[in-house]
Amino acid sequence: MTDKAAWQGRVGTTWATHWARTDRSFTGLTDRLLGRASARPIRQALDIGCGAGELSLALGRGHSMAEIIGVDVSDELIAVAKDRGSHLANVSFACGDAAEWSKPGFAPDLLVSRHGVMFFDDPVASFEHLASIADHDARLVFSCFRDSSENAWSERILSLLPAGLGDIPDPYAPGPFAFADPKRVEMILSRAGWIDISIEPVDYAFVAGAGDDAVEEAVKHFLLIGPAASAAAELDDEEKGRFVGRLRRFLANSADGSIVALRAGAWIVSARPGRR
Ligand SMILES: C[S@@+](CC[C@H](N)C(=O)[O-])C[C@H]1O[C@@H](n2cnc3c(N)ncnc32)[C@H](O)[C@@H]1O
Repeated sequence: MTDKAAWQGRVGTTWATHWARTDRSFTGLTDRLLGRASARPIRQALDIGCGAGELSLALGRGHSMAEIIGVDVSDELIAVAKDRGSHLANVSFACGDAAEWSKPGFAPDLLVSRHGVMFFDDPVASFEHLASIADHDARLVFSCFRDSSENAWSERILSLLPAGLGDIPDPYAPGPFAFADPKRVEMILSRAGWIDISIEPVDYAFVAGAGDDAVEEAVKHFLLIGPAASAAAELDDEEKGRFVGRLRRFLANSADGSIVALRAGAWIVSARPGRR
């Protein structure tokens, strides 16, 4: 489980330190998500669980007359986002829980998120709140992972941990795969008052490593971030060495020249708020 407390602790610290790795891993998805998000003019946009801010910054650059606010529970990630966005007058960042955050005069006509909405403790109440602050003509556009059969790398990496440590987490607990089931996503959004829900599969290349030593880069990535990182950090030196060896062999088999790219599957979900 990766909940709000995890993002305010070790996981958030790691993402704040290694934001360039996570932006790189999403390269194949970001433009497609931004394309959907930018399909109509934007007046005010809320980036939910904005992390280090890449989506907010891209929206701010592309829509210079729009006001963009990124919200995240991790103060360390918000500090990085503020630093990266200090040159953009129309982009700001706030530390807060998107399940209850609001700002007077801010009624976004775009609510967007790149993999930032699967961590709510109470997803229905959180999306109800988001509908309540949205403009009546708003659009919600977010990405999330499809299930592990479409993201085989995730289970494979877990399986490389010593026996008993790589159990597949509860799929409905807050975490990266909590929105993998499209029927559940549809149920959450419609109970929360969203209508015209569309859930579209998008395949992309998850770039885990690139450059002269792409395999070592990818090994580093998965020791820091992703399904096995927390368990790997707890291993003793001997066990860790064996895990790294297995991880390196798996990633080397997925390397293509100067890149390690893994087949990944996401949903791009869109909806609009119902009448209130
Ligand atoms: C997988 S990361 C994605 C970050 C960013 N959207 C990106 O694409 O780089 C999930 C983000 O959601 C944030 N988050 C989790 N629960 C949240 C909540 N209740 N309110 C706001 N942000 C939250 C985390 O701190 C984290 O930055």
